[in-house]
Amino acid sequence: MRCLLAGNWKMNGLRAALAEIRTLERGLAENGVAAEILVCPPATLISAVAKEAGDSPIVVGGQDCHAEASGAFTGDISAEMLKDAGASHVIVGHSERRQYHGETDAAVAAKVKAAQRAGLSAILCVGETETDRGAGRALAVVAAQLGGSIPETTRAHDLIVAYEPVWAIGTGRTPTVAQIAEVHASIRGVLVDRFGQEGKAIRILYGGSVKPANAAEILAVRDVGGALIGAASLKAADFLAIALAAPLQGRS
Ligand code: PGA
Repeated sequence: MRCLLAGNWKMNGLRAALAEIRTLERGLAENGVAAEILVCPPATLISAVAKEAGDSPIVVGGQDCHAEASGAFTGDISAEMLKDAGASHVIVGHSERRQYHGETDAAVAAKVKAAQRAGLSAILCVGETETDRGAGRALAVVAAQLGGSIPETTRAHDLIVAYEPVWAIGTGRTPTVAQIAEVHASIRGVLVDRFGQEGKAIRILYGGSVKPANAAEILAVRDVGGALIGAASLKAADFLAIALAAPLQGRS
């Protein structure tokens, strides 16, 4: 399974940021990086990034989608629109969406369904808060989020899970590798229970303060199939350094 490194630009990036895509493309080519590289820019840049990425190994994704394909939902963007703009993936259920937009597991499940309807791979985010972890509830919270956010109809092959402890996002703090391994193993168990053999092939990304300095040790953890990277994905040099830290099967 190739390592997937997904950059989540969040609400950052004007057209000038396309220069970072060009630099990243050059760096990937020069270093023979074979990891799959996904950039999820703001929706305003999806088609421009897709055009810029061309035949390079960079693919493009959205950061959220509406559950419906079209309709009277001012300001929203459907999975079909993301696909039409050049996206192949969409992040759903990010903790910032859950927190600032009140997205419930049921709402997230509807978005996973929409993504798959449109032919996009859904990157489903789950993760515990610091309070949950302190109370020894991390595994239970993550399992409950998975249970509630994966719709009945989901196909395993276009589902990706991202474990993002809320307390590690944008804080510079990360769990220990043992804690990451424990949660990823637990997620794997839930996926195998749900999908059988196919559950073994679902990629589970780690996200939360991934940077060049910690990427190698995090990406080497068993059942970590890649990373979801926020701040460090905004700079091509940092994103490239993370790609170079990916395990050997992620390099050519
Ligand atoms: P961070 O964000 O890498 O800046 O911590 C990760 C994310 O929110 O996906």
